[in-house]
Amino acid sequence: MKTIVITGGNSGLGLETARIIAQDKNNQLILACRDQKKAQTAVTELRRESGNLHIQSLELDLASFNSIRNFTVKLVEITQGIDVLACNAGIQIAKGNQTTADGFEKTFGVNHLGHFLLTNLLMPYINQKSGRIVLVSSGTHFNPAIWQGKIFGIPAGDYLGWEELSKPNSMQNYSERSRGYARYSTSKLCVLFFGYELNRLLREKQRGITVNLYDPGLMPGTGLAREGNAMEQWAWRNIMPMLRIFDGVFPVKTSAGNFVKLLTDPSFNDMTGQYYEGPAHKNSSEDSYDQLKWNDLWKGSEQLTQEKFIV
Ligand SMILES: NC(=O)c1ccc[n+]([C@@H]2O[C@H](COP(=O)([O-])OP(=O)(O)OC[C@H]3O[C@@H](n4cnc5c(N)ncnc54)[C@H](OP(=O)(O)O)[C@@H]3O)[C@@H](O)[C@H]2O)c1
Repeated sequence: MKTIVITGGNSGLGLETARIIAQDKNNQLILACRDQKKAQTAVTELRRESGNLHIQSLELDLASFNSIRNFTVKLVEITQGIDVLACNAGIQIAKGNQTTADGFEKTFGVNHLGHFLLTNLLMPYINQKSGRIVLVSSGTHFNPAIWQGKIFGIPAGDYLGWEELSKPNSMQNYSERSRGYARYSTSKLCVLFFGYELNRLLREKQRGITVNLYDPGLMPGTGLAREGNAMEQWAWRNIMPMLRIFDGVFPVKTSAGNFVKLLTDPSFNDMTGQYYEGPAHKNSSEDSYDQLKWNDLWKGSEQLTQEKFIV
């Protein structure tokens, strides 16, 4: 039996990914979710559809170090070890400042810092020979749409240092309108720094665990835009799906299929330290390969989570 943990498995990409994985009854699936009511609904639906009874949910709020610690203890009690860790959960906060339970800016806190601590605490329990970690990033970390010299849409990730990014009112150099999006794309750049540095350290120690990075592409209609205003949410549900004719825009089921390959397909057994955009192996942004920044964020994240990361 293979044990697969998916953070944010109750909605969007996480739920569709769980749906595919559940089909194989040799898979034990743990949905790591902040809202246990939504999680239980997903578990019931997945069990009914697949007939796989090895599907459970466990409470995990990535915006709380306490919750992450409690989750880890419970997870270890109910599994024999972890084969695949899918760090999928994510948020985008359109407006205003929100903070984690520990006082850090929430987009950075959930998308990067929470997964950093979670991966750290789970490291000893991940299959040492063939374990896989896949971190969900986003193409927004680079490539902003530029037309006639003006940036449209989400600004590219901008690593201003972990001290700045963790501040409750971070990125004041951005306008109020674009700050939330800049925090989002930057958190996804941080995910890349973390994944590449983790991979580097694992290779240095000649460990069997692989780490890959995944951009699912633009998937209109998921819950990601829930923090936006009514107009933005309407456009996300009704207008954006029409963009599927463009490159990099995928129905969520297609993105889930590509994600499952990275998580479980034997053809990826030896693949590590790579970035995928949908099904395609690509380079991430030039900035994302800056090892000094990988190291800076790593050290800062250890300091913020007050936990040394032992690889
Ligand atoms: N949609 C896109 O176009 C797109 C593009 C590129 C990358 N992505 C990335 O794909 C991933 C999945 O997003 P999605 O589009 O499927 O959006 P989604 O439907 O909103 O799913 C996000 C999941 O993350 C969970 N989550 C949020 N905050 C959490 C926290 N503090 N602790 C634990 N779980 C938390 C959500 O739980 P609740 O249901 O309780 O809120 C939900 O299950 C994210 O990492 C996102 O950044 C999405």
